[in-house]
Amino acid sequence: MINMKKICIVGASGKLGQYMVQHALDRDYEVVGVCREKSVDKLDAFKGHITVIPGATNDREVIKKAVEGCDGVLTVLVPWGVHQYSSGTAQAVLDYARAGARLIFSCGWHITLDGQDVYSRTLKMQVKLGSWFGRLFRVVDIDDQVEACRRVFASNTSWTVVRGSDLEEGESQGLPVWSRHVGDPILESNMTRRVDFALFMVEALENNELIHEAPAIVGCQTPSALAHKGDQ
Ligand SMILES: NC(=O)c1ccc[n+]([C@@H]2O[C@H](COP(=O)([O-])OP(=O)(O)OC[C@H]3O[C@@H](n4cnc5c(N)ncnc54)[C@H](OP(=O)(O)O)[C@@H]3O)[C@@H](O)[C@H]2O)c1
Repeated sequence: MINMKKICIVGASGKLGQYMVQHALDRDYEVVGVCREKSVDKLDAFKGHITVIPGATNDREVIKKAVEGCDGVLTVLVPWGVHQYSSGTAQAVLDYARAGARLIFSCGWHITLDGQDVYSRTLKMQVKLGSWFGRLFRVVDIDDQVEACRRVFASNTSWTVVRGSDLEEGESQGLPVWSRHVGDPILESNMTRRVDFALFMVEALENNELIHEAPAIVGCQTPSALAHKGDQ
């Protein structure tokens, strides 16, 4: 197993990113964070404890510098804009992270690894509408997040793609439970605290059983998780 000492968080200033920074510091990792120039001050609380590299996450030179010497990279994949933000970010991480580094990517349940996920009508409708409105107003390109994950799945890196349910704020309830396929009964509650999504991402760095998995997660205290915890 890789000795996890130094990690990079791509998208560190966002909500998920900031929680991941805290979990990583709690584990005494050396942390390098990448975020947009205009968001650097969102990381003020961590000043002196992490190295911040400002820049667009799909800027290959920014990522090259940020992931240098890192044993793990946590990447927030977001489909902003219509200029391959997600796939550009993922590709740069895949290209520049050192051989053998643990690469953990975040996305939502709508991403599928093997096509075996069973989606509710509500979720299918949400993705369809999100995709349509996003493209119409040129703010979000969900297809690009799909492309980003396709590239990750096809890579020969030590990847894990963590698929988040609907999210809520609130205190940690502990490590979320997971399943391989959306539609599995344990996931039915479809809710995870954001702080625990971040916890799952950070814990995945040192969990080799998650290599080449795309776990769909749900809060460990949700009714479906409690009802089906023996199923795993
Ligand atoms: N929201 C949900 O309900 C939900 C559900 C399931 C899964 N997820 C997954 O969870 C992850 C994080 O989601 P989140 O909702 O918690 O978001 P978040 O952590 O707030 O992250 C949003 C990220 O996008 C960046 N960003 C915002 N506007 C941008 C723009 N116009 N151009 C470029 N970057 C921009 C933010 O950077 P700045 O700090 O610079 O703004 C931040 O790094 C994503 O992978 C998402 O697919 C979310």
